[in-house]
Amino acid sequence: EKGPIEYSKGLEGVIAALSSISAIDGKNGKLIYRGIPIEMLAKYSTYEETAYLLLYGELPTKEALEKFSAQMRELRVIPKKVEECIVELPPNPHPMDILKVALAHSALYDPDRQKCCREGVMRKVIRIIAQLPTMIAYYHRARTGQEVIPPDPELSHAANFLYMLHGKKPDEEEARIFDIALILHAEHGLNASTFAAMVTASTLSDINSALLSAIGALKGPLHGGANERVLKMLDEIGSPDKAEEYVLNALKEKRRIMGFGHRVYKTYDPRAKILKEYAEYLSDKYNDRKYIEIGERIENIMIRELGKKGIFPNVDFYSGIVYQFLGIPRDLFTPVFAMARSVGWAAHVCEYTANNRIFRPRAYYIGPDYVEYVQLEKRR
Ligand code: SDX
Repeated sequence: EKGPIEYSKGLEGVIAALSSISAIDGKNGKLIYRGIPIEMLAKYSTYEETAYLLLYGELPTKEALEKFSAQMRELRVIPKKVEECIVELPPNPHPMDILKVALAHSALYDPDRQKCCREGVMRKVIRIIAQLPTMIAYYHRARTGQEVIPPDPELSHAANFLYMLHGKKPDEEEARIFDIALILHAEHGLNASTFAAMVTASTLSDINSALLSAIGALKGPLHGGANERVLKMLDEIGSPDKAEEYVLNALKEKRRIMGFGHRVYKTYDPRAKILKEYAEYLSDKYNDRKYIEIGERIENIMIRELGKKGIFPNVDFYSGIVYQFLGIPRDLFTPVFAMARSVGWAAHVCEYTANNRIFRPRAYYIGPDYVEYVQLEKRR
């Protein structure tokens, strides 16, 4: 007699690894990278420094940071053949699909492709992290019929992306806000895309294949794809006084409001708190409060309706408003998430494969115990 089947849906609550990269306190809404609270990194660090911290486990000395930043700037240039491949791609596929093609293509020309020694793997990792922004910007310029803008070695990782995208240097303040957004998106434990990368790497496959798995997972609307859909929702609602009806209707139809809820956070996502500040700031700077007012109205309604169930804004709810003011096209919001999270993916792949065991869970079989094989002519 089969009793009730006990298994963890979506691996909820399952501990699948030991890690010292980051820790999430879902109850109190806290996130630390290698022990450092993200509020401190958002205030004092840069994406380059945070990437070093996540990859190497400690804050870099001045020399180490200069060396790492120089390596990122050198490796952000993509091979001519990869550029030609990107600019030839059709304008309508989703940029997350372009990212998979561009990364897979770039891997074929990676001089360190065969390397599996530590420095070889680290150079591959840094090359991918450095090249993703170039790939995204090149694709956007090509699909909008504009000349590609090669990376500027004088600019930081964050500023350079905005420069390659818009063809003009971003103002310091906006480059800094984007840098902070990248820091906040850089790492988040064993989320679906990081776990996808780890599963692939656990078979001792290569880092490129692992990151392709991650990009595929991040694309989904329940994960990285939510940020793009939040803006679409804000446009659908159109004005703050329409928010109540829209949200209550969606909840009645058991539809999920994008940008809310989290498997681990059962309170306000600390990243959303910081991103909300910048969404507010930019709304005032540009004197356009439409999105932030609709967003805040939705937040109040969702917390009133579902706060007791632990449903609050997550990282995706306000990030899109920030990106919109930074002139980033909506269908690039998830690729921007991917370029930021590439560090977290790589850090977990390196950490996990250092002390590896292939991931191989099981399913509880609920099919029939025995079925006769019936010849084709006898089947009805
Ligand atoms: C990211 O894991 C990570 O760390 C991810 C991430 C990272 O940095 O890597 O933080 C990035 O992916 C953030 C999440 C972006 N996704 C969205 O905003 C999509 C909307 N959110 C939901 O789909 C959902 O909350 C998830 C996917 C985020 C979490 O899914 P769970 O943990 O499986 O939760 P669930 O679907 O089982 O929901 C539990 C209950 C359900 O109600 P009941 O059926 O129990 O009555 O909460 C409800 C859900 O209906 N619920 C929501 C809701 N999210 C959960 N109801 C309305 N709107 C929502 N957004």
